[in-house]
Amino acid sequence: MGDSSCIAPSTNRLEGKVAVITGGASGIGESTTHLFWKNGAKVVIADIQDELGQAISDKLGENVCYIHCDVSNEEEVINLVDTTVAKFGHLDIMFNNAGILDRPFGSILDTTKSHLERVLGINVVGSFLGAKHAARVMVPQRKGCILFTASACASIAGIATHPYTVSKHGIVGLSKNLAAELGQYGIRVNCISPSGVVTGLSPRHGATLEQMEASQHQLGNLKGKILRVEDVAKAVLYLASDDGDYVSGHNLVVDGGFSVVNPTILKAVGLIQ
Ligand SMILES: NC(=O)c1ccc[n+]([C@@H]2O[C@H](COP(=O)([O-])OP(=O)(O)OC[C@H]3O[C@@H](n4cnc5c(N)ncnc54)[C@H](O)[C@@H]3O)[C@@H](O)[C@H]2O)c1
Repeated sequence: MGDSSCIAPSTNRLEGKVAVITGGASGIGESTTHLFWKNGAKVVIADIQDELGQAISDKLGENVCYIHCDVSNEEEVINLVDTTVAKFGHLDIMFNNAGILDRPFGSILDTTKSHLERVLGINVVGSFLGAKHAARVMVPQRKGCILFTASACASIAGIATHPYTVSKHGIVGLSKNLAAELGQYGIRVNCISPSGVVTGLSPRHGATLEQMEASQHQLGNLKGKILRVEDVAKAVLYLASDDGDYVSGHNLVVDGGFSVVNPTILKAVGLIQ
């Protein structure tokens, strides 16, 4: 047995690291901004919601700043990465998290080409550009960590629209392909894939937060627990920190087992409710 202090959970797990979080002004990104900051990182929030992003930065102080960046615009992504390096000296963690959920849920017959292109333009092209320009500065550093937010819909079919599902499969593929290319430079690349968590993206249909969470609990596999943005942020922290320092090419599904369980048959024959 080794020294148990070797496996004690570390605090300040991102001390000295510089992170960019796209979509950092809301939901999963906002929660991750707070958790990274609490763990000693310098954080750049990149988003298009300027007031929200600036307010978080003002509240957290000098180790957090906000930069307006539409991730689908390459000039703005270049500016994001270059401004981060100019301000904080280097870039250690690029969390490509910004995304949109398209709706309504519908048949391919009702899905337009422009609709598909809009979702791919932000979710896939935005993630690609973030990764590309992060790699541009990480390769010469010969270290770094690139993360993406995919979704449980890349592991289980029929739970999201076709454009959104295509986009998240694309992100998982991009992440693995980048892990193959960038491993030679000491750069780790991973994805996080949450199931439903109530955020700004969640379709509300007039429901309250409590009703939305109750319905997610009913649909979920793991009982007695509701997935919240903080749970996703903790998984992101694991991948971003040295605790995950030999993990690359991985899609970390955070869904309480939802995507590996299909209760349809047992329900149909009445063995479970
Ligand atoms: N909420 C869920 O149930 C869920 C499940 C799986 C995956 N995800 C993914 O998590 C990620 C974060 O979403 P969330 O649920 O926290 O929703 P959210 O709406 O709270 O956050 C998304 C953020 O991305 C920003 N954004 C959107 N388009 C942008 C653009 N072009 N450039 C820069 N920023 C942009 C938004 O302004 C917002 O701040 C998304 O990639 C989403 O697909 C969410």
